[in-house]
Amino acid sequence: MVRPIEKEVTDLSFVGLLLLTCAGKFLQHRSEPSAMAKISLLTFVCCFSFALCYPPVYYQPEQVHIAYGEDETQMYVVWSTQNDTVSSVVLYSLAGSSQQLVAEGGTYNCGSDKGWSPEFSFTAMQKGNNWSPRLAIYGDLGNINGQSIPRLQLETEKGMYDAILHVGKHQSNMFEKLSVQDDAKVGDEFMKQIEPIAANVPYLTCPGNHEVNYNFSNYKHRFAMPGDPYMDRMFFSFNIGPAHIISFSTEYYFFVQFGIAQAAEQYRWLEQDLMEATKPENRAQRPWIITMGHRPMYCSNADNDDCTKTGSMVSENWLAYPALFATRKIFYDYGVDVMLWAHEHSYERMWPVYDEKVYNGSLKEPYTNPKAPVHVVTGSAGCQENHDKFITNFAAWSAFHSDDYGYTRMTIHNTTRTCTWNRFLMTREEKLLTPS
Ligand SMILES: [Fe+2]
Repeated sequence: MVRPIEKEVTDLSFVGLLLLTCAGKFLQHRSEPSAMAKISLLTFVCCFSFALCYPPVYYQPEQVHIAYGEDETQMYVVWSTQNDTVSSVVLYSLAGSSQQLVAEGGTYNCGSDKGWSPEFSFTAMQKGNNWSPRLAIYGDLGNINGQSIPRLQLETEKGMYDAILHVGKHQSNMFEKLSVQDDAKVGDEFMKQIEPIAANVPYLTCPGNHEVNYNFSNYKHRFAMPGDPYMDRMFFSFNIGPAHIISFSTEYYFFVQFGIAQAAEQYRWLEQDLMEATKPENRAQRPWIITMGHRPMYCSNADNDDCTKTGSMVSENWLAYPALFATRKIFYDYGVDVMLWAHEHSYERMWPVYDEKVYNGSLKEPYTNPKAPVHVVTGSAGCQENHDKFITNFAAWSAFHSDDYGYTRMTIHNTTRTCTWNRFLMTREEKLLTPS
């Protein structure tokens, strides 16, 4: 349980006492200025100046967010303080009976004896695969024009989601300097905006192009992810119910000034991870394999982005060495089911597609047992760049598109081996997308 912390006598209170003492001494000696009075006056002036210049301290935890740990028994809690608090502690109380402590989660405060966060709560991940995770999914959500934040907060408070997937671009200018003083402050503000959401529901991420500065170090040091507790890489995977979810960086393929070694490392890791996830015993437990990456392989937007081109960089043509890092082929070969993207400030759902060809399960039920991954671009949660428009001549693989603000809700059912999703549109009533 959280105990109230006794308020400390601050250094500023100490300065106040000094001021009173010095002023008293000065008044006692004002008719006959003595050496003592002069010293007192000097001390008074020094103390007063010091008090005026004494900078505030920032010990209060802010930007609190959580993410799944290595398994159901762990949860990462990350927060920031502007000043060093020396120690960092999470106080937590577990919910439920002693037999169910781990399964149910609980409440927590984080911080130090210099200041604690408000109380937040979370539900731990359920064990096993016999349950249906409910996810909110979006990318390109910003500090300015963050259209989806208020509704996501209310829905989080109602307990509508088990986890949130943020598919890159967490904030325009998150790490771009408006001035030297502004460095990363917009990102700080964004993290405060999403705290009511991310402090209560596991918030899983992947990097986007706006997180590039300083080789993504600011991004990496904000988010601890499953398999990445030390915040030093940009790809990971985790199991949730009947699904295996892979988060990877598409940005390695574009910002080559940081070297190609990290792209190669990620590709090797992807291969191993997919190999493990598709072992018969593992696929039987978790039939769904879902990926999240920021820049799409396909899109129908009228902005000449990489995804508008046949054979996009993310798909296969990276540095003209397709055999080395052909992500489209490896995801296809290992039977990935759903690929989640953002970057385009719009929503688009594809038919099952590989190499520009449609591989529907059947005419009547295109999404039942499809022969290729289903791609969904969901990058219109709201940011300062507003919407991206669409072309007028859509390819055969484009099933539905919308440029309304909103996000995607996905429920992964394990009993029927179906996956349903609907798109919440900010300017319309909720609309259920059906596959035919
Ligand atoms: Fe982007």
